[in-house]
Formats: sequence, structure tokens, C-alpha cells
Amino acid sequence: MSEGARQSSSGPEAVPDHVAIIMDGNGRWAQMRGLPRQEGHRRGLEALRRTVRNAADAGIRFLTLYSFSTENWRRPQTEVSFLLGLLRRFVEKDLIELHQAGVRVRIIGNRADLAADLRALIERAEAMTQGNPGLTLVIAFNYGSRDEMVRAARALAEEVAAGRLSPSAITEEALSARLDTADLPDPDLVIRTSGETRVSNFLLWQAAYAEFVFTPVLWPDFDREALDEAIAQYRRRERRYGGIGSVTSRSVGVA
Ligand code: IPE
Ligand code: IPE
Ligand code: MG
Repeated sequence: MSEGARQSSSGPEAVPDHVAIIMDGNGRWAQMRGLPRQEGHRRGLEALRRTVRNAADAGIRFLTLYSFSTENWRRPQTEVSFLLGLLRRFVEKDLIELHQAGVRVRIIGNRADLAADLRALIERAEAMTQGNPGLTLVIAFNYGSRDEMVRAARALAEEVAAGRLSPSAITEEALSARLDTADLPDPDLVIRTSGETRVSNFLLWQAAYAEFVFTPVLWPDFDREALDEAIAQYRRRERRYGGIGSVTSRSVGVA
């Protein structure tokens, strides 16, 4: 990304081009109401649908949603099955509507562990929507940054072993190009709901220079107001990318 493009990516009017969200707090939302955790996940899916519309309205072009991590298999089997079922139903039921709204759907994460029919469903959703001009909706499913980086490292090693790539050609770009996010810009803003302040293995490479916003709002309650508040916080940040920033540059006479 050019320096000019970077500088225009924050400031009072800026809309982050790529927003990534760690959708957390479904279980606690349910627990607070004496409901089963599954009800929290169901309401979380409603929040996801709402957020896709709100993000497109706000002018965001890429929206990445963390919906199931490589560590979430540690949950009770009934909860895991329920979450897999929710994804399946979301792709099946919402696909046509998303397609009609011009949304491009992408799924990132490790597909090798998923059932063949779920993989086929994912591939169909991506193929059907790939030419769409609107919001790019990236669902991180069975996603873990470390797993993604290991797969990318393995792909590079295989190319080197086959004599197609020289070790000196392993650059940041070469590694980026083998991640699941190869054709996506890095996130500008990462939001985590539910008050937790950790990244939980999400976009560790890609978020190198993202701004982070942590909100106490539980994911099922995430609405337009919460999204706007996160964007407002983003606008107040100054992105420096290791430099000394625009105000300081002026005061020390740097062009
Ligand atoms: C987020 O809500 C959904 C997933 C991680 C799949 P949680 O299920 O983690 O909710 P809490 O953190 O237990 O409240
Ligand atoms: C992160 O939430 C994963 C997703 C939102 C899909 P978790 O609830 O799994 O994270 P931890 O376990 O609290 O770190
Ligand atoms: Mg959680």
C-alpha cells in the first residue's frame, strides 16, 4: 500500500476499508437470561446478518467475521455440532439473498477437517458470488492464525523442495500470497465484543498494523450504534506504521 493511501485510511472522515470482528459473548448473553448457550448462538447469527447490512451501509468494503476457531473444537460436542449446523444453514439459507445484494462471500480457515458436503457448500457459495461488486464478506471458519501460517510455510517448503522456488524468494509478499487471505487487504480495524481483550489466534499476521477496539457489548447485542462507535474510535486514532506521525513530522520539519 502506498504511503498516500495509508495516510488517508484514518482521520475524521475515514471509513475503515476492512473491518474484522471477533464475535464473542454469545454464551454469556444467554446465561444472563437463563437461556441455553445455543440461544445465544442463534441470536448471534441475527447480529451477524444485521452487521453485514450495517457494514455495507457504512461504506466498509471488506468485513471479516470470526465464527469458529481451530480451538473451538474443545467445546462440548453438542455445542460444536450446533455451531457447524448454524454455518451450514447460514450458507444454505442466506446465499441467494447475499448474492442478490451483491455480496461476495469468502470462507477462510482449514477446510481439510470439514465434512465433504460442507466443503462443497462453501465452494458453491464462493463460486456463485465471486464476481459480485458489493461488500466482501469473509467468514473465518475453523480458522486459526497459527494453523494458517503453518499451512503457508508448508506450501513454501514444498515449492522449495520441488525446485520451483528459491529460499531467497521467501519474502513477506510470498508468505502473504500463501495465506487464506491472499487476495484480501489487511484489516484496518479489528473489533472484539464481550469485554475480552485478547486476539485468540485471529489474523495475527494480517493485523500487524490494525487498530483494535474492544467493546463490552455482547455479540448478540451488537448493532449499528456499536459499529458506529467503533468506527468513531478508529477515526480518532493516528496510524503511524512505525513512522513518527503527521503532527510530529510537521513540528520537526519532516516533509
Ligand atoms: C462467540 O461466543 C461464539 C463462538 C466463539 C463460536 P462464545 O460462545 O464464545 O460466548 P462466551 O464467550 O462463552 O460468552
Ligand atoms: C474467539 O472466541 C473465537 C471466535 C469468536 C470464533 P472464544 O470465545 O473462542 O475465545 P477465548 O476462548 O475466550 O479466547
Ligand atoms: Mg467466547
